[in-house]
Amino acid sequence: MHIESLDLRTISDADALQIAELLVRIWPNSEKTVAVRQSQLLELGQKYAPDEKPAPQSFFIRESGQIIAHSAVLPRSIGSPTGDLKIAGLTRVGTSPEQRGRGLGQIIVRPVFDLVDRGDYQFSLFQTTQQVRPFYEKLGACVIDNPIVNSLGIEHQESPFWDKVIMRYPSDQAWPQGEIDMRGPGY
Ligand SMILES: CC(C)(COP(=O)(O)OP(=O)(O)OC[C@H]1O[C@@H](n2cnc3c(N)ncnc32)[C@H](O)[C@@H]1OP(=O)(O)O)[C@@H](O)C(=O)NCCC(=O)NCCS
Repeated sequence: MHIESLDLRTISDADALQIAELLVRIWPNSEKTVAVRQSQLLELGQKYAPDEKPAPQSFFIRESGQIIAHSAVLPRSIGSPTGDLKIAGLTRVGTSPEQRGRGLGQIIVRPVFDLVDRGDYQFSLFQTTQQVRPFYEKLGACVIDNPIVNSLGIEHQESPFWDKVIMRYPSDQAWPQGEIDMRGPGY
């Protein structure tokens, strides 16, 4: 299976459009239209300096010219009681509804977790639902229950995540207790 990747700082309009179309097929009931999702994808990388490493990236699988599975990683430095953590913010993970169960979900999340395994990040951190939790547990992630805040947000004491389940990868490394400061919006 060929996995394509791109740096989100230099994503083309055409790739952003194809990924946006996939995200709308996955989350059709959201108020986010293809145009909204496309412009969000074009903006995601702009918060990073051109030479900053590791890079914000998209990973995807294309079949017959259409993107059918996607994941993205946003580098973040977050605060914890034991010090800052360099994390891979995993986001926009999905497989086209008619392509599920083929292993594409695992294949497209793995490159992000591989970046952690090779030491580019200490952990991956992401939000999900109870329904999808077992999918990530199979990949070696586990749920965290730390209080989460965003000290840079208007509501400092509120978690910037909207989904109920917050997970980290890998599950077998020591993870701090206590409050996690995301220092920015959820993803
Ligand atoms: C979650 C999602 C990406 C899985 O994609 P997929 O291509 O079907 O996943 P895979 O075929 O790689 O499945 C891998 C394993 O996870 C399991 N799995 C997949 N989705 C699952 C779910 N919703 N609940 C429980 N297990 C699930 C599969 O049974 C499979 O297990 P196996 O290896 O024992 O057979 C896909 O269902 C999806 O896009 N969902 C909607 C969007 C979403 O929720 N994204 C995640 C947001 S954080």
